Amino acid sequence: MSLQQFIEQLDDLAGSARQAFMAAADSEQLESARIEFTGAKNGQFKLIQKQLGSIERGDKPLAGKRLNEVKQEIQNAFDEAAERLAGGQVDGERDPKVDATLPGPVQRIGRLHPITQTINELKDIMGRLGFTPAEGPEIEDDWHNFKALNIPDIHPARDPLDNFYLSTARHSAPSLGDNPLLMRTQTSTVQIRVMENRQPPIRIISLGRVYRPDTADATHFPMFHQMEGLMIDEGVNLSDLKTVLKLFATSYLGDEVPIRIRPSFFPFTEPSVEADYYWNGKWVEFGGAGVVDPNVLSAVGYDPDKVTGFAFGLGVERLCMIRHQITDIRYLYTNDVRFLQQF
Ligand code: PHE
Repeated sequence: MSLQQFIEQLDDLAGSARQAFMAAADSEQLESARIEFTGAKNGQFKLIQKQLGSIERGDKPLAGKRLNEVKQEIQNAFDEAAERLAGGQVDGERDPKVDATLPGPVQRIGRLHPITQTINELKDIMGRLGFTPAEGPEIEDDWHNFKALNIPDIHPARDPLDNFYLSTARHSAPSLGDNPLLMRTQTSTVQIRVMENRQPPIRIISLGRVYRPDTADATHFPMFHQMEGLMIDEGVNLSDLKTVLKLFATSYLGDEVPIRIRPSFFPFTEPSVEADYYWNGKWVEFGGAGVVDPNVLSAVGYDPDKVTGFAFGLGVERLCMIRHQITDIRYLYTNDVRFLQQF
């Protein structure tokens, strides 16, 4: 073989090796290119090197010199490609400033909404007191939201301005004579649904959304959550209610929390009370409660001479806000991650 042919072959080899290394998209491709061009057994470089023997004696020094140069060129091209792949620079630019020991971008991990967290905790506490969760629909009828709860037809709580009534015919006001649908305004509806379907003894809680057309401000929101509790059995009375509320407040707030009850009025309880607990130096109202009115027991087919019970309804947002010192209910529903990620 002539010296010129030999050198031409070498130059071609250097060019194709460089191209193949540059085209490698990952270290596997780079490695198979390396084997193809510089493999110790049948690599293309090796095959050319073997032809050195057929070069004329006088041309050998020049041929050998070029052989070494090309070997070095191929090695450089390989090193460059390997470095590019390690630095993640696909377009061939090198970035010597990459520091693989630095922490990566911050991973945002989702979490439960503070109200969901509160609900889970309330279920947990009440579960330990023997209360099982029960569910009811958020779209209710007049019977479960009012009538069965001893709220008469003429009661102001039924005012269309205080309720989200749903009417099937657009623009037509729901008539009060039948059983119109509305977004439930209280979880007391679930008391009725449970009692309609089960016999005492009953010990349930119901946690869920309720809806009232209130203008949103720091303490009001047109949708919020309640926890309803209901216990029915023979001989259940007001002091059982107070005991359960006291145990609940103490567990939830994690301390010896004084509670008090004040006389109040709800159509479905008699007597009715308002319950407060003492927290951070002041009395805070945490909900309504009372002994279930005999009319309610009769409405679901129970015998009020045989069984009695108590019920309570607490605001979940209020419990969550007091515990976490949240000053405005609207923060809970603005869905600003800077707020939500604190919980
Ligand atoms: N349902 C009442 C309310 O929403 C709270 C309540 C529940 C009162 C059970 C007494 C008994 O205000």
